[in-house]
Amino acid sequence: MNVINLNISFEQYESINELTLADRLLCENAEQALATSYSPYSKFRVGTAIRLASGETILGSNQENLAYPSGLCAERVALFSIGATHPNAVIESMAITAQTDNFEILKPVTSCGGCLQVMAEFERKQNREIEVIFYCLNGEVLKVPSVKSLLPFSFVEDRLER
Ligand code: THU
Repeated sequence: MNVINLNISFEQYESINELTLADRLLCENAEQALATSYSPYSKFRVGTAIRLASGETILGSNQENLAYPSGLCAERVALFSIGATHPNAVIESMAITAQTDNFEILKPVTSCGGCLQVMAEFERKQNREIEVIFYCLNGEVLKVPSVKSLLPFSFVEDRLER
């Protein structure tokens, strides 16, 4: 029996002012995307901004539905929109933020497992790491160098790709 330890390192910032200009803009774009959140049921708005290698930025926000499971998280809305409209795009980085009127969000909100699995497939497909930035509106920012470091055991089965 072997015990294997996995180690992930990520960066923590007190505010977006400590980020590079490009990352700061991406966080601000994610914040702008909150405005298009359709979240009448949870009242929890999530916004994301994805920077492509082309320089273009794609936004996404969570879109809910009265039939709750039919809704979709902000990350997947943006990623699938890229898949549909920019199928050959290379993703450099994505920023995610959240907001609600119901309570104060004190820490960066991190992505759900379903979104991580979708992010993992985009990363694998483009064979280049995607930086993930979780931005809390109160200031704190976490920057993770790759999706693989967030989900080291994503579902992978290459034989399905036939
Ligand atoms: N949500 C996201 O948009 N991204 C996540 O990674 C987790 C949760 C959304 C789904 C739902 O509209 C609301 O947040 C509350 O769960």
